[in-house]
Amino acid sequence: MRISVIGCGYLGAVHAAAMASQGHDVIGIDVDPVRLGALREGRVPFHEPGLEQLLSEGMSAGRLRFSTEIADAATAQVHFVAVNTPQRLGGDEADLGYVEAALRSLAPHLAPGALVVGKSTVPVGTARRLAPLLAGRAELVWNPEFLREGHAIDDTLRPDRLVYGVGDEPESAERARVLLDEVYAPQLATGVPRIVADRETAELVKVSANAFLALKISFINAVADVCAATGADVNLLADAIGHDARIGRRFLGAGLGFGGGCLPKDIRAFGARAAELGEDAIGSLLREADRINLGRRHRAVELLRTALSSQPGAATSVDGGGDLRGRRIAVLGLAFKPDSDDIRDSPALSVATELALLGAEVVAHDPHAVPKVRIARPELTCVDTADEAVVGADAVLVLTEWREYRELDPAALAATTPARLVLDARNCLDPAAWRAAGWDYRGLGRHEQPVGALVA
Ligand code: NAD
Ligand code: UDX
Repeated sequence: MRISVIGCGYLGAVHAAAMASQGHDVIGIDVDPVRLGALREGRVPFHEPGLEQLLSEGMSAGRLRFSTEIADAATAQVHFVAVNTPQRLGGDEADLGYVEAALRSLAPHLAPGALVVGKSTVPVGTARRLAPLLAGRAELVWNPEFLREGHAIDDTLRPDRLVYGVGDEPESAERARVLLDEVYAPQLATGVPRIVADRETAELVKVSANAFLALKISFINAVADVCAATGADVNLLADAIGHDARIGRRFLGAGLGFGGGCLPKDIRAFGARAAELGEDAIGSLLREADRINLGRRHRAVELLRTALSSQPGAATSVDGGGDLRGRRIAVLGLAFKPDSDDIRDSPALSVATELALLGAEVVAHDPHAVPKVRIARPELTCVDTADEAVVGADAVLVLTEWREYRELDPAALAATTPARLVLDARNCLDPAAWRAAGWDYRGLGRHEQPVGALVA
């Protein structure tokens, strides 16, 4: 099948390469000449495991190419729209300007019988409202995407489900279903569930899924605070409640909370759209989840200040917390999550920035996000290895749970920093191993003391 993918960012580049890998003839279109230039040379302008390989396979097989000219998409039978839908400046709503521009630019180039498929995350009602932009030349349907960064290829090739949101007119709805079934034939052949719905339901499925995940994370983070207040351990608690199949262990990782290019802006846009519709219950729930989530960043900073103030000879600030001025803080992790270099709304980057604003000497490391951080936050000092960041630090902060941090050797690191204070803001280290190596280990809602000491 001939396919175009309009917008080649984290979502579109993966979708284009994945569709080419299943035999389709794909053209990726993007208005950003730098991004496009990289993709044309087979380079991925962001970190996504496996994508460079898939891209080069598609390109050498002649099934994948890229262009900045929308006219080059004219022969495609199915056009996927994967452009950005960021939070509007100065508001909670989604900015749909990029989707509208993409549809407007595509409309004059549509071949008879072509199908336009929205993949971007949009507020409910968007497809119905924007369909007239295609001037009757093609049907507009919505097929939301659920991939996670860091697992994007697997999630695209083997999704948990496919959702098609089709129009009201039965004949064109059926045509759209048939075309999408052809696009996703390999997935359907392996039994991936496919839900055919109206466009409104499909749009809502996407934002509801992200909202539910955000609520789950904020729930466990709120519980983590009660754990911290009582000496209970949120990781053990999450294991225990997660064994209940109705709850499940995934997305019960307490710590610094959620960030990235999706969850934060999607819950705000969902709340804003619901309010427009006169329905505020979901907005109140999500505002509270957002508030709890943003509070995690501040809590991590406060925990660090408290821990530093309890060190012998430590200076305190006017508010009684530890004075961070001149303290050397090793920050491990800047990306919003491991296996990604994405720093959009990154909790780790926001903590590192706050520490620097409070006068700390921040020395940061991240396996992949540093080039982006150097552009976005040139004032932060970034180094090439975790060891380099830790040497001589008054405290070590783990802000993104990259595997290389989880596998650090606490005994070897202890020799390089006399302070031996570690704040594990992702609750990803083994407290017993770090304590055994002489570290003062602190988590967010984990035992202040080793479990052995509590049960003894
Ligand atoms: P992104 O910013 O990485 O990529 C968007 C791309 O679209 C950019 O390269 C931009 O230059 C391009 N673009 C903008 N306007 C264009 C136009 N008129 N024509 C052609 N190209 C244009 O964003 P992203 O993270 O890939 O997200 C895209 C959409 O997918 C958003 O709605 C997002 O919510 C949704 N989504 C993202 C993910 C994810 O993990 N990143 C997952 C599921 C859904
Ligand atoms: C999310 C959705 O998972 C995906 O389905 C959707 O298509 C896009 O948005 P993504 O943003 O790539 O994907 O990352 P995700 O794995 O969902 O993590 C989001 C944030 O939540 C990260 O900052 C992560 O650190 C945080 N998180 C995740 C937790 O704090 N605790 C957890 O248990 C899980």
